[in-house]
Amino acid sequence: MINYVDRMADALVDVLKYSDSEVEWPETRGLRPNDGVRPEWLYPAIESSDYSEITSILQYTQQEAVFDEIGELLLGIALVEMKHYAGVRDAIVALGGKLPQPYSSKNVKIGTSLVEALTLAIESEIATIEFYKSIEIKFSQDTDSVIIMKQLLKKLIADESLHLKLLNRYLKDSVNDEQKYNSIVGEWLSKIKLYIE
Ligand SMILES: [Fe+2]
Ligand SMILES: [Fe+2]
Repeated sequence: MINYVDRMADALVDVLKYSDSEVEWPETRGLRPNDGVRPEWLYPAIESSDYSEITSILQYTQQEAVFDEIGELLLGIALVEMKHYAGVRDAIVALGGKLPQPYSSKNVKIGTSLVEALTLAIESEIATIEFYKSIEIKFSQDTDSVIIMKQLLKKLIADESLHLKLLNRYLKDSVNDEQKYNSIVGEWLSKIKLYIE
């Protein structure tokens, strides 16, 4: 059956500036069980970790409600995270895995100021990029499923890197003082530079 809501969401997210349109989604239906990719590797992305797609959806939509100034930015990113959740979920199902539950929101951190909200969002994006990169090094052979999975990770990492870039730019502009910005991001600075360049 045609899922019109899903098609509309695809079209909407594709035209938003919060997704990297240069990198395409793979066809995850081509993934197969026991073909060099284990579904368990993806579970943290839809569980309660601080880098999970559900955690980021809840974090950004709640931050959107509190910090009006960055509402559009955060909702735009949250919509892309919903597509990420759906993409990872489809991959897990195709690989023969189970969808984990229940969910705990213990890692959803909102922050009490605009700067703190942006800093928390930046930290989440970095943790997510590093999680997806940690899966990339698990492959030992180039099966059909591994090739699809590599493209899925490439897409996810490209989008998270774009989110990091947009959030960092907003933080930098709102602080408007190089020294102050450096002390806010502290130890994260080298990773921000690494992933947005
Ligand atoms: Fe994501
Ligand atoms: Fe993201």
